[in-house]
This record gives sequence, structure tokens and C-alpha cells, in this order.
Amino acid sequence: MCDELLSQGEVPLQIVDVGCGTGRLLATLLQRLPAAELVGVDPSEGMITVAHARFADEPRVRLETAKASALPLPDRSVDAVVTTVSFHHWDDQASSLEEVARVLRRGGRLLIADVFAIGVIGGIVERLGGHHGRGYRSEAELSALVGGAGLTCTRRRQLFGPVSPLFVIEARLDDAHPRAAGRAPASRA
Ligand SMILES: C[S@@+](CC[C@H](N)C(=O)[O-])C[C@H]1O[C@@H](n2cnc3c(N)ncnc32)[C@H](O)[C@@H]1O
Repeated sequence: MCDELLSQGEVPLQIVDVGCGTGRLLATLLQRLPAAELVGVDPSEGMITVAHARFADEPRVRLETAKASALPLPDRSVDAVVTTVSFHHWDDQASSLEEVARVLRRGGRLLIADVFAIGVIGGIVERLGGHHGRGYRSEAELSALVGGAGLTCTRRRQLFGPVSPLFVIEARLDDAHPRAAGRAPASRA
């Protein structure tokens, strides 16, 4: 996830981790991106309490108790939205992705690391997904959800080998999409 953030285009300065849990990814981002301002969002008060303790002395991290479908952030305010092993839990993935698109600046990126029903064992994963969270999305479902929010999938990296169901999906705001009209360019310090 950090590799994607650092290797593609300009390094983001305002980053939101949606479904941040106890803040594992935020801790890594803090180290790898020394100029970044980070927001962690999770609907579980228990998770956020643990994360608060973890980042008690860290002014670059803000934590909020909220769902992906109601992000407590202004329009066009972040350069990147990241999420790890959480997307398949989101109870309304379509409206949540619209929220992601709302808070992203023009040129902003979404990175989702999760289990997907894609690849060699995609069929098996899809059946298992019916019993877990909102389920694991197929390539066609993911593409429709992401596109419906005005984002375009730009890259996909499979983690842990060719039979793994874990992928990092990168999507960007589609400048040609009506939802992108009027968005400000991603800010640079
Ligand atoms: C398996 S944990 C992953 C936590 C963290 N991202 C990590 O990698 O350690 C899934 C997280 O997604 C959160 N979650 C569940 N539903 C969500 C929603 N609708 N919006 C945002 N986060 C959600 C859960 O509270 C939980 O903290």
C-alpha cells in the first residue's frame, strides 16, 4: 500500500484510512510519509479507542468514529483514501465509494487492499464471501461500483502470489466524469 502511494505520481499529503481499525496502516504511513497529515476513520468505538492510545502524542494523526458512507471530511479535501481488509465489510459500498469520490481532490487516488473474487480462485472466494461482511466483489462488480462513483480503476496488484485472493486496487477520480467537474487539483505543499 505504501509502495503504491510513493511510486505513482506525487506523494500525497492528506491521506484518509477508512476502516483504520487500531491504526496499523496509519503507523506505517506515519513513518514512510513524514510530511503527511493522516485521518483514521472507523465505525467501531473500540478500535478508535485503541488507535487514540496508540497516537496520543502524534499531532499528524486525527481519528474519527464514522462509517465509510458518512466521512467526516469536507469535499475535495484529501489526496488519497486508503483502506485495508475493510472494504468487504462496508454495508453500503456504492454510497461509500461516492463519499470517497466526494472527499478526493482532482487527481486523488483510492487504494483498496482486500480480498476479491478475482483470479484463479475467484469462484471459491465469491461463494465464501456470501458468509462474510458484504461479500467479496468480482472484477465486474468492483468495476461497476467504482465507476458508479466517478472513479476509474487504474491498477491492480495481486499480493502473495498467483493463487492469492488479496489485491491492491488503485482507482482515480475520472476527470471526464460529471462528478469530477469543479474539483480542485490535488494540493501540493
Ligand atoms: C479486519 S478490520 C481491518 C482494520 C485495519 N484496516 C487493519 O488492516 O488492521 C476491518 C475494519 O473495518 C471496519 N468497518 C466495518 N464496517 C465499516 C464501514 N461501513 N465503514 C468503515 N469501516 C468499517 C471495522 O470496524 C474494522 O475495524
